[in-house]
Amino acid sequence: MAHFDPKTYRNALGQFATGVTIVTTRDADGHAVGVTANSFNSVSLDPPLVLWSLARSARSMAAFEQATDFAVHILASDQEHLSNLFASRVEDKFAGMEVGSEGPPLIEGCSARLVCSTRHMYEGGDHVIMVGEVIDYESDGKPPLVFHGGAYADRIAREAGSESPPVVYAVAGRIATITLNRPETRNALSEEVIGALVSALEAADADSDIDCVILTGEGPSFCSGGNIKQIKALTAEQHMTPIELENWYKTQIQRIPLTMDRLSVPVIAAVRGHAIGAGCDLASMADIRIAAEDAIFAESFLRVGIIPGDGGAWLLPRIIGLAKASQMMLTGEFIDARKAEHYGLVSEVVPVDALAGRAMELAAMVAQFPPSAIRKTKRLIKDARDVSLAEHLDQAAIWQGVLQQMDDHREAIDAILEKRAPNFQGK
Ligand SMILES: Cc1cc2nc3c(=O)[nH]c(=O)nc-3n(C[C@H](O)[C@H](O)[C@H](O)COP(=O)(O)O)c2cc1C
Repeated sequence: MAHFDPKTYRNALGQFATGVTIVTTRDADGHAVGVTANSFNSVSLDPPLVLWSLARSARSMAAFEQATDFAVHILASDQEHLSNLFASRVEDKFAGMEVGSEGPPLIEGCSARLVCSTRHMYEGGDHVIMVGEVIDYESDGKPPLVFHGGAYADRIAREAGSESPPVVYAVAGRIATITLNRPETRNALSEEVIGALVSALEAADADSDIDCVILTGEGPSFCSGGNIKQIKALTAEQHMTPIELENWYKTQIQRIPLTMDRLSVPVIAAVRGHAIGAGCDLASMADIRIAAEDAIFAESFLRVGIIPGDGGAWLLPRIIGLAKASQMMLTGEFIDARKAEHYGLVSEVVPVDALAGRAMELAAMVAQFPPSAIRKTKRLIKDARDVSLAEHLDQAAIWQGVLQQMDDHREAIDAILEKRAPNFQGK
């Protein structure tokens, strides 16, 4: 055993920047498997050898141990979502991807790709060290995804030169991740963020290849709510009249609850750090909410002498009940992740560095089902708020009639009976 604390040592190493890769291979049955790894390195030129290490606890260990080859994908700066997907323990990480059937599975859009034949495997205690000889290599020249100090440092490259987008939209398989991208304001809902968020949500909903959306924030906070400076300017600089302010709410922040309420595609909010005011309400608009241990929620509108103008007073009582919602809204109290879980505001709390992976796992659990049935389930739940049981049952019967006529329904049943994975076509 080492004469130092392995955890401290590991945390210290985590301060150094590394590239992020996905290493892929096929298991004994030819199924594609892959894992996110930042332990990758080049070691010799002649022959060209590379190495990486795989934790013994990884589910893909058996596949890599028996494989004669593997592919290393050096991820591009816009592939953070793929890194999260392959770092999660979902069943089929390749769902919706075309990766060929011969040789190691190849993922598109990377910074560089190396195809390697397995040369050596070394016993490394809790890891196995894999050495491969590079037999094919291609580079796309895209800036790489960098991991630094326990977080992705790719935004340095992403933002270099051009204006960084207020919201980042990324697709992995059948899952879209929408990331509020103004960490310098803790992702405050400025007019530009509102417009981009609404467009991204509408794009995901319009895309029948998307089965689930993850909504999250760049940096240490989910969303700090309305942009206080912008709100102050409405009266202090723009001298808006009450009617103009009413119109501003309707044409700005209120587009978010109305859009979220119309969506058919389910949304999972993954909250770390602050979800304050309109940020707390934004999380409340999602279908599923999970939080990192450092999450803090508050209905803080009274602190600045206003009311929830974005639907919070309608949403929150429906999630956590009238008494707790009233307490939050009337006291402005900050509640931590554990209390939020106790209140029922979030369904799970996970360590900060497990948040993205867990959100991806949940999204992949949703996305394993037939696309139409996923969307109808979400709508059925949402619509049930506003109708009688008789109307609800009527709607359920009609939709069930449609779904049970679909190929995907028959395929789901056949797959269960034949003990195999289903292959849904969205028909
Ligand atoms: C940025 C990043 C780098 C990682 N690097 C490694 C690594 O080098 N080796 C490893 O075994 N796991 C690494 N992991 C964790 C694995 O990706 C994770 O345990 C994954 O669940 C393994 O997949 P599997 O269990 O389906 O095989 C990393 C995760 C992230 C997010």
